Amino acid sequence: MSQFYGPDFDELQAVDPEIAAVLTDEVARLRGGLQLIASENLTSPAVLAALGSTLSNKYAEGYPGKRYYGGCEVVDRAETLGIERAKALFGADHANLQPHSGASANLAVYGAFLAPGEKVLAMSLPHGGHLTHGTKVSFSGKWFDAVHYGVAKATEDIDYDQVRDLAREHRPKLVIAGGSAIPRLIDFAAFREICDEIGAIFMVDAAHFIGLVAGGAIPSPVPYADVVTFTTHKVLRGPRGGMLVCKAEHAAKLDKAVFPMMQGGPLMHAVAAKAVALKEAATPEFQAYTRQVITNSIALTDGLAAEGMRPITGGTDTHLALLDLQGIGVTGAEAEARCAAASIVLNKNAIPYDPQPPSVASGIRVGTPSVTTQGMDEAAMKEIAGLIGRAVRDTDGTAAAGIAADVSTLVARAPAYPRSTAH
Ligand SMILES: Cc1ncc(COP(=O)(O)O)c(C=O)c1O
Repeated sequence: MSQFYGPDFDELQAVDPEIAAVLTDEVARLRGGLQLIASENLTSPAVLAALGSTLSNKYAEGYPGKRYYGGCEVVDRAETLGIERAKALFGADHANLQPHSGASANLAVYGAFLAPGEKVLAMSLPHGGHLTHGTKVSFSGKWFDAVHYGVAKATEDIDYDQVRDLAREHRPKLVIAGGSAIPRLIDFAAFREICDEIGAIFMVDAAHFIGLVAGGAIPSPVPYADVVTFTTHKVLRGPRGGMLVCKAEHAAKLDKAVFPMMQGGPLMHAVAAKAVALKEAATPEFQAYTRQVITNSIALTDGLAAEGMRPITGGTDTHLALLDLQGIGVTGAEAEARCAAASIVLNKNAIPYDPQPPSVASGIRVGTPSVTTQGMDEAAMKEIAGLIGRAVRDTDGTAAAGIAADVSTLVARAPAYPRSTAH
C-alpha cells in the first residue's frame, strides 16, 4: 500500500487494475522527467491522504454550523480549521475554502458584485491574463462587458498608465489584477488607487503566486484588495481547487455567491486537504521553500538567457519566466514538443505582441515549484537550462534519447516522491 495512491491502493488494484495502472504510470512519469509547468506542484503525502478519504462521501451544503444536511459536525471541524488557518496565514478578515477551482472562485466574484452586462477591467489573455478575466470563450466575456489592459511594449510589464486611462474611460465595476504568465511583481497599491478613484471593486487573482505570498517571499495583495481569489494547487502545493479571502464587508455576499449561487455541496475531502496545505504553508520549511522557488526561477531564467532565449521583461521576480524563442528561430510549439521528447515538460506560451497564433506561440513558460519541491537548487537549474537549450535545438529528434538520459540522471539525485516515502 502506498500513501501516494490513496489509503487503499491494493483494493483499487483488485477492483480496477486499469485505473490502478494509470496511477502508477503517472507516478512513474513524475519521477522520470522534469516538471516545469509553472502552475503545477507535487503535493505532500498528508494532502494526498486527506484527498483520498471518506470525507468525499459527505454532503455539507452551507457553511460550518449552518448546513442543509445532518451529520456535518465532523466535517465542520475541517472547514473551520481551514478557514482559521487561511485567515491567520494571509491576515485576512474572511476566507472561503469551498470554490471547486480557480475558475469557480472567479465566477463567484463576478456573481457577487456584477449584474450581467456590467463592466470589468482585466489583463488581456495574450499579455498574461487568464481565460476567466473576460475572454470571449469564457462566461466572463460572454456575460460581462470586458475591457482589457496589457503590458507596455518597451518594458513588457503592466502598463499602469493604460490601466488608469481605461478605468477612467470605462468606469468598470470590477478591476482584476493577476494572471497566468506574469513574471514580475504587481503594484497592488497602484491598482487600489485606481479603483478608489472610480469606486470599483478590486479583485486580485493570485492563483499563480499566492504560495509565494503564503511563504512571505513576495508582498501580499490582501491589504489592498477587496477580494483575493486563488487556486490551491500551484506554488501553495495543496490539492487541486480554489479559495478566496476578502474584507469583512464582502464576506456574506461572497459566501452566498459561492453557495448557493454558483455551486452546490462543497467537496469536503478537498476542503480538508486545503486545510492541511494551509498548515504546511505556515511552517519555516515552506517559507524557505518559497524563497528557493524564486532563487531557482532566477537561476533558470539566467541559464535560458545564456542559451539564447530572451526573458520577457528581462527576467523574473517570481516562480515563473516567459522566454521569447524568436532569436533562436524556434516556435513555442516546436520547443514544447522537442522538450517533451526529452522528458522535459513545459508549455508553449504566447508572448506579448506575439506574431504567432496561440496554437504556435513564440515563447515558452517555465516554472520552478515542482523541481524545488524535489529539492533542486541553483546548480541544478543551470543544468536544466542546458538540457532545455539542447532539446529546443534538436530539430530532427536525434538528440532526444541522450537528453532524456541526462534528465534521468539529474532527477535521480532529487526525485519526485522519493521511494523511501512511497512504493
Ligand atoms: C490566474 C489564474 N486564475 C484562474 C485559474 C483557473 O484555475 P482552475 O484551473 O482551477 O479553474 C488559473 C489556472 O491556471 C490561473 O492561472
